[in-house]
Amino acid sequence: MQTATADIGLVGLAVMGQNLALNIADHGYTIAVFNRNADKTREFVEHCERNEPSRANVIGCAEMAEFVRTIKRPRKIVLLVKAGEATDATIENLLPHMEAGDIIIDGGNAHWHDTTRREKRLSGLGFAFIGSGVSGGETGARFGPSLMPSGTFEAWQSLEPIWRDIAAKVDANTGKPLEGAAPGKPVSGGIPCTAYIGPNGAGHYVKMVHNGIEYIDMQLICEAYWLMKNLLGMDAGEIGKIFEKWNQGELSSFLVEITADILQQKDPDSDGFLVDKVLDAAGQKGTGLWTAANALTLGIPANAIAEAVFARALSALKDERVAASSLLKGPVVKLEPDRAVLIEAIRNALYCSKICAYAQGFQLMAEAQLEYGWQLDFGTIAQIWQGGCIIRAGFLRKITEAYGRNPGLMNLMLDPYFLEAINQGQYQWRQVMSLAVINGISVPAFGSAMAYYDGYRSSTLSANLLQAQRDFFGAHTYERTDKPRGKFFHLDWSSSERNQVEV
Ligand code: 6PG
Repeated sequence: MQTATADIGLVGLAVMGQNLALNIADHGYTIAVFNRNADKTREFVEHCERNEPSRANVIGCAEMAEFVRTIKRPRKIVLLVKAGEATDATIENLLPHMEAGDIIIDGGNAHWHDTTRREKRLSGLGFAFIGSGVSGGETGARFGPSLMPSGTFEAWQSLEPIWRDIAAKVDANTGKPLEGAAPGKPVSGGIPCTAYIGPNGAGHYVKMVHNGIEYIDMQLICEAYWLMKNLLGMDAGEIGKIFEKWNQGELSSFLVEITADILQQKDPDSDGFLVDKVLDAAGQKGTGLWTAANALTLGIPANAIAEAVFARALSALKDERVAASSLLKGPVVKLEPDRAVLIEAIRNALYCSKICAYAQGFQLMAEAQLEYGWQLDFGTIAQIWQGGCIIRAGFLRKITEAYGRNPGLMNLMLDPYFLEAINQGQYQWRQVMSLAVINGISVPAFGSAMAYYDGYRSSTLSANLLQAQRDFFGAHTYERTDKPRGKFFHLDWSSSERNQVEV
């Protein structure tokens, strides 16, 4: 009979699973690991024996029953399997071996509706279920991811010590990620990038919004690069140097940092820069789409986030774009003479657009908590995102500070820091947009963010006409500016009398 020696178990030894298992082992926890394909488990254990300082903490199990028995009760079992059917199938396989009070933790990119469903079912059976967003890719999983867990608070308390230990850490004074972890040598101290998000699917919801923001953040950076390339004729290496510089200032972030690296990478196969040889057709796995779809469902204008999803879709129509490029005409691009001036304007355009994009993500979460009965702590969410995750950035500390100043902040753009930044930067942002339009350069995310900004700051919009149109053809009624809100009117637009009635 196998004795229960493991502090935690993990199912799914693909890249994320292996790295998270090693992270947990590096922190001194004994971890049992299981993979559907037993060869993979064996290979992983062999790899650990050869290379990993914390090898003694990893126990490979070939059978599911043996795996479960190896874990101390109440068992904590992390799933890192492909989100969707594989998650359900793994849970079904685990259940016969588990006992009341055991906890399953899903670290995949699950849809939060699925997490809510699974949490309800498993708690009904006497188990606990935590859906935990895990961000940071392979390196994050290994040396410190950003973790967004939700489920019952009791289950979280049981998982908390391990989750806090393995999460990325940020410096308490500066908010900067603590770097320098190595195999067997995790960083110590700092604030962990994890906290309880709320019940049922809240954690995976917040992870989904993180990914929606990731999409727009990436798209905005791509548009800044594209403007420098097309309006200034700069090569990838030169643009990479600009991103390197920007990474020292208010735009400092993981995505800007890797962009600087990517752009300066030479092509290993031929002359020139690698990025110029990478096909311009973007892929996506769906989390950005989920964010945009949820924004549409909740009626929140996260248009820049949606635009980032559409921008990928448009890029993927590569063959159609190639065919259309010789038929649909546009202006001849005129190079701008003053490089320094335009680069600074593009930097401002990027920063202002980024503020709008994050404002949309947080506005979406604010609506979601009302709709789904959660109480989200936005300052803490921004804090969790300061390290470990893909969107980690100095900028997020500013967001934590903004919600610290005003926990009920209506919109991020209205916080004094962001208000000042966007009020000042907007003129250059507009100049950049004008140049893009005049020269026919596609910058949908910059434009979409600006449409949001200009719409949000307008006390009146053209929707008066829209409401009248709706009333004209569908008797959908309208409110009047000279009457209290909530009173609705209909005009008989087609009759000769044109009578207005209050309905
Ligand atoms: C993260 C990432 C990750 C995501 C990839 C791919 O936070 O670590 O968001 O979860 O899966 O970035 O996403 P796309 O394939 O949709 O670009």
